[in-house]
Amino acid sequence: MPLLSFNRRDLLTGSALLAGAALLPRAACAAVEEGTAVRLSAGPARANLAGTGFPDTAVWAYDGRIPGPELRFRQGDTARIAFANALPEATTIHWHGLRVPNAMDGVPGLSQAVVPAGGRFDYEFPLKDAGTFWYHPHVNSGVQVAHGLTGAFIVEEREPIRVDRDLLWLLGDWRLTKEAELAGGFGHPMDATHAGRIGNTVTINGAVRDSVPVRAGERVRLRLINAANARIFALDFRGHAPRVIALDGQPVTPHAPPDGKVVLGPGQRADLVIDMAGRPGEGFDVVDGFYPRMAYRLTRLTYSTEAPLRDSPLDAPVALAANPLPEPDLVGAVRQDVVLDGGMHGAMPKNAGPRGPFWALNGVAAMNHQSMGHHLDPLITVKRGQTQVTAFVNETGWWHPMHLHGFPFRVLSRNGQPAEHREWRDTVLLGPRETAEIAFVAEEAGDWMLHCHVLEHQETGMMAVLRVTA
Ligand code: C2O
Ligand code: CU
Repeated sequence: MPLLSFNRRDLLTGSALLAGAALLPRAACAAVEEGTAVRLSAGPARANLAGTGFPDTAVWAYDGRIPGPELRFRQGDTARIAFANALPEATTIHWHGLRVPNAMDGVPGLSQAVVPAGGRFDYEFPLKDAGTFWYHPHVNSGVQVAHGLTGAFIVEEREPIRVDRDLLWLLGDWRLTKEAELAGGFGHPMDATHAGRIGNTVTINGAVRDSVPVRAGERVRLRLINAANARIFALDFRGHAPRVIALDGQPVTPHAPPDGKVVLGPGQRADLVIDMAGRPGEGFDVVDGFYPRMAYRLTRLTYSTEAPLRDSPLDAPVALAANPLPEPDLVGAVRQDVVLDGGMHGAMPKNAGPRGPFWALNGVAAMNHQSMGHHLDPLITVKRGQTQVTAFVNETGWWHPMHLHGFPFRVLSRNGQPAEHREWRDTVLLGPRETAEIAFVAEEAGDWMLHCHVLEHQETGMMAVLRVTA
């Protein structure tokens, strides 16, 4: 497939999807010491997303930065985050993928009250798992995430693998006008009934840049986070042979990405090990080709002219130690399937109106949570300590990244075929009409969200509550 070539003008004339990317200077990393609370605020800010020659965009940001500060801790430590809300509306923070006590999960009406404009909330939780996680609001999510409220949350292993550099690419997707302002129309039925709010400007760590500097011979650990509202990525690192070492923060048997493409649905993460196998002075495109006929160059790995760091690839293991997750007991499991329905050309919920709901789980369309909170009756109830097996059955013609709070799950099978790596995930991406079977231990009592991470789907019915009883 020919690679379309885009330039900056294409972006704001809307004639093309966008290219470009960058590494965030490590200055954006909050140095955290055990025992002290990190202060974090959310509020209006301005940021240059589209690059030089374009005006700044009015955004909402954590600590005034896009993305928010990279929160870094070590496994076994306790995270303390003193949060202050300087937004013009209520919010909360959800720590996506982390196993936190229910009261720290950030779901309004379910696990905490909203943090009103001008309010504060102290989050505190032990860090059981190492890995690549992220944080974002759980109030009016489609609007708040699209305004920029996203950030990486990294928990370092006590014994990390040996690499030369640990890089992070938080992928953002923005729908901008010609003036580089955020386009309105949040939650528009046209987006909500289709693939969600897909933007026209893709950023890496909050900026469009054409090139990422690398050095021949170095080994990089690249942490990828899809923080987009709706866009799915399929990254092709041309000229390189990345190995996937973790998915959604959880270690996996190191393997080459299927078909050479690293696929990330909204909410998902992948940790890669990449040996920079090119020669000094060379350059290699990183291409995102998820959507047919809309492939574009995300960025270019640009080799410095320095002599290679080493002559042959680093001879060191890349497998990460497993996190202490409870192993599902498949023999004693209870089974509760979840059928996804609705959307354009699908079976719309009975109570569908012009603004929704458009989607349903097991025939139930959840609505009206945007500002008030997720006051929902549980769709599924399970006893604490119980293993649950769930098949997500996608009866729609659309992609859905299904996310479960609280409990990482093993992916057992897809369309009846055993999953090759039985990987742990917190978000499983389902293709149209695909079925994926998962298993998890309901470790912690409380009400936990289960929803599609295409935020426009979530907000128009595709969410539910899993209740774990003590
Ligand atoms: Cu990342 Cu309920 O969300
Ligand atoms: Cu969906």
